[in-house]
Amino acid sequence: MPSIVYSNVAQAGAQRKVRIDLPGREYEILIGVGILNDAGRFIAQRLGAGLCGVVSDENVAGHHLKTLEASMRAEGRFKGSVVLRPGEATKRFGELERLSESLLEMGLERGDLVVAFGGGVIGDLAAFAASILRRGVRYVQIPTSLLAQVDSSVGGKTGINTRQGKNLIGTFHQPSLVIADIDVLKTLPEREMRAGYAEVAKYGLIGDAEFFAWLEANWSGVFAHEPDVLMKAVETSVRAKAALVIADEKEAGQRGLLNLGHTFGHALEAATGYSDRLLHGEGVSIGVVLAFELSERLGLCERGSARRVADHLSGVGLPTLISDISGPPLDAEELIRLMAQDKKVRQGRMTFVLVRGIGKAFLTQAVDIEIVRSLLLEKCGEGLEN
Ligand code: GLY
Repeated sequence: MPSIVYSNVAQAGAQRKVRIDLPGREYEILIGVGILNDAGRFIAQRLGAGLCGVVSDENVAGHHLKTLEASMRAEGRFKGSVVLRPGEATKRFGELERLSESLLEMGLERGDLVVAFGGGVIGDLAAFAASILRRGVRYVQIPTSLLAQVDSSVGGKTGINTRQGKNLIGTFHQPSLVIADIDVLKTLPEREMRAGYAEVAKYGLIGDAEFFAWLEANWSGVFAHEPDVLMKAVETSVRAKAALVIADEKEAGQRGLLNLGHTFGHALEAATGYSDRLLHGEGVSIGVVLAFELSERLGLCERGSARRVADHLSGVGLPTLISDISGPPLDAEELIRLMAQDKKVRQGRMTFVLVRGIGKAFLTQAVDIEIVRSLLLEKCGEGLEN
């Protein structure tokens, strides 16, 4: 992956572009500083005619909705806004129904656009609504969390949660444009910023050891909102994701590498009831450390790599141990059962993303579940003796 050198380029209005070249479904990801002010213009310049129905949540709307609406009004593109309750519980059938009907009542037509303005929950839900509204309308992602900017807004996965699990109902529907303004991250709670950082680090761990080393040296600039550092972190992540999405849009293979840490992470999220006990990115942080530990135990990866990853993630304030999760201790057998329900289970075999080192992830179904069980039994027991 080519490295990107930044030096005082990330001033207000500065902008970088990443293209997703999927034949017939091409789009740009614009990454910049203060570019929310220009969102209406970018949409008008790139997407032709069509009015915008914005979907947001109360937290994001309180900080930024006026700015977005004003930029759309200036271009004569604003149709209306729907503001939903924040949080994972909004990503469900009832809210999908309410949102779809609100967009229809707003008068959104086939040639109009849904604009998903929020974090991963709003992005996934609004994109799902766009994919089924009038048999599919175009949509724009304007991600406002670090996690959404570097991961969920790119690649066209849409979905909602059900009793059976996370994101088990959904579609692939690529956005027509993504606008990621790193300035809006200033209003993101610190815990959410850290959770998103786990996904940033993940890109280094999957395929770019140089980027991981750069993060080890520069992570504090991400949290200090230094524009040059944050731009490089977001752009490098988006480029890594774009390459995998272009290679494997529907996740038949390589796109699955993006799930590094997620098989463990999703089970931890499910075991904690998708609650405030564990944010998605926090589950990923613990999950990637487990993936490295499992790889070491299987003799695939040099000893010490898991320690290095854990030291970095805990250094930024992320949980890295199952015992870091607050509340009642988790049960290893329950985690195994939850992992077996993962979407990535094929013909009864679990798919794991393992590593041969930092930046050397690969997919495999050849993992002895007894080794996973003994790792989890040990990890769930850690800290209990204190
Ligand atoms: N978040 C993983 C993917 O988009 O494939």
